[in-house]
Amino acid sequence: MRERVVIKWGGGLITKKDVLKEPQLDVIGSLADQILECNRGGIDVILVHGAGSFGHLKAKTYRLAEGRVDSSEANLLGPLTQDEAIEEVRNDMMELNRHIMDALTVRDISAVSLPPHQWATDTGTAFKGSLEHFIQAPKGITVVTFGDVVSCQDSREFGILSGDGLVARLAVEVPHVSRLVFAIGGVDGVLAVPPVNAGPDDLIEILTPEHVFDGEHESAIDVTGGIGLKVDRGFYVASHGIDVIMVNGGHPSRVLRACKGSEVRGTKLSVPSSDFKQR
Ligand code: IPE
Repeated sequence: MRERVVIKWGGGLITKKDVLKEPQLDVIGSLADQILECNRGGIDVILVHGAGSFGHLKAKTYRLAEGRVDSSEANLLGPLTQDEAIEEVRNDMMELNRHIMDALTVRDISAVSLPPHQWATDTGTAFKGSLEHFIQAPKGITVVTFGDVVSCQDSREFGILSGDGLVARLAVEVPHVSRLVFAIGGVDGVLAVPPVNAGPDDLIEILTPEHVFDGEHESAIDVTGGIGLKVDRGFYVASHGIDVIMVNGGHPSRVLRACKGSEVRGTKLSVPSSDFKQR
């Protein structure tokens, strides 16, 4: 039985987060190299990527995470209607996804992309949509999806389905996933103090649900929840007996070590086995 891992590439890692639609192609390339190494080592990958500057900036301007706003307020948001902004963000996300698919295919990695606005509705971990394509993926195929603007079945009409919600469900519901790896940008994992004040010793290597930590949430540009949301989703996954680790994706070899389950600098999320839930 081949192993399966779920990897999330954070948007802040694969894009310049504050410059509209600027991919970090060199980072994407070296992360794709690690997926090839995983495949060669008998590990199949489900890859979920974030949005960074291809999603958050416009989503924030047009308040897409809140759903439909009153037309009087919507008119003040900017030159686009919310519907036009949805279309643009979806297209922008497809564009970012194409950069990623190109990096995979140029390395002969067989990959298929499943954009959430085509198969999922609703947000958070309770999103609806069949995971069958992920479950049935033949061995050696990397299935790719990403944070996206999706329809909602309630009065919001639409919302943002974060990659963090996707990874949580995929790790737990796709059989034989042994670990979930968050590759994040700029930090080595969860820090005990805000990143600007942190030294090398401030990395929390093992994070338990009781831990109190200082999650810096860039609410000015991040519409889906920052590190706190990742930790929350991560504990949900860890409580099903699946290893969850956050590593600095700026060091791609750490991502590979994390995928293999080797010792690596990063933050491991730990839930006591007595608290494990059934998958
Ligand atoms: C956000 O997805 C999607 C959009 C804003 C369209 P994520 O929440 O997974 O993205 P990052 O990793 O924070 O950029």
